[in-house]
Amino acid sequence: MTLHGALIAGTGSFLPERKLTNIDLEKMVDTSDEWIVQRTGIRERRIASPGESSASMAVIAAQRALESSGTRPEEIDLILCATITPDMPTPSNACLIQHALGCRRGIGAMDLNAACSGFVYALVTATNFIKTGSAKTVLVIGAETLSRITDYTDRSTCILFGDGAGAVVLKQTTDLGAGVQAFELGADGSGAMLLHVPAGGSRHPADPESVGAKLHTLKMSGRDVFKFAVAQMAESIEKAMNACKLTPDQIKLVIPHQSNARIIDSAATKIGLTADRMFINIDRYGNTSAASVAIALDEAIRAGRCGRGDWVVIIGIGGGLTWATVTVKL
Ligand code: COA
Repeated sequence: MTLHGALIAGTGSFLPERKLTNIDLEKMVDTSDEWIVQRTGIRERRIASPGESSASMAVIAAQRALESSGTRPEEIDLILCATITPDMPTPSNACLIQHALGCRRGIGAMDLNAACSGFVYALVTATNFIKTGSAKTVLVIGAETLSRITDYTDRSTCILFGDGAGAVVLKQTTDLGAGVQAFELGADGSGAMLLHVPAGGSRHPADPESVGAKLHTLKMSGRDVFKFAVAQMAESIEKAMNACKLTPDQIKLVIPHQSNARIIDSAATKIGLTADRMFINIDRYGNTSAASVAIALDEAIRAGRCGRGDWVVIIGIGGGLTWATVTVKL
């Protein structure tokens, strides 16, 4: 079998207009701007308007990625949308996006759930379709409307989450030295309950009691997730560098999942990467789960923090528990 390269040809993102600041949250729960900034690095997050949804935001992010890569919707061979907040349990967001963008009838379209690692899981999946020649152009999206599954009376979670979408167009290239060079997927289901939404699935379908008890919102053991994420992020970056025999000074930028600035800082210190080589936008958007890395990658490229020929490590970490990394030569 002839293997092909998988190149990040373009990126795009979309954030809703409305901002929810720490000062706003001070009026909603017993918290303070100072506590939130110190413990998480977050200052504000974006909240979707009633008319917006994960799919509607994904469509705009995708259009921007298509534009930046010079791709027409008809050229897309496969659509992967990572999300834990699809518009509906079925159909998939990917099908809604396919139709809205005007992609060809008959291409593959599916959603993928790996929580905050979802976009990187989807990027790895897309890479393998391209490497084996099963697809030439894949649209990979991370989109979330976490505000719809957040309990705004729970101060331990509502300060963290936000809404948004990011997208990448991945294209086949004959240059095996360009694009995705290595990846890792990981999961540890023994930690499944550390971050979960108790109801709304087949185990506990929606009923008036589950709605009343707010069982359709995210529940998290913050301290346990924090410990896991700190250790996993450092280990993942090291593995990603080793897979391509790279030293820290060869890495132009790390695009980590934006879960907590302290998690990112601690991983950087452990590995010996200077703070300027860890991309952070959590101060403005909070944790947008599967959208986080996709938005960060788009912002980093558009801001000139990384570009063609640079080594970049992309990391997702989150519920499941899950983790995923991609080492890419842009
Ligand atoms: N404002 C003020 N105080 C708060 C608070 C808030 N928003 N949230 C919790 N507290 C309080 C707690 O009640 C606790 O009080 P106590 O000591 O009197 O019991 C104290 O602050 C410390 O709580 P703790 O949960 O230990 O704080 P922490 O330093 O671990 O920070 C998180 C909490 C949520 C910021 C942190 O655990 C975290 O970021 N976890 C990982 C989150 C994550 O990444 N989730 C997504 C997966 S990718």
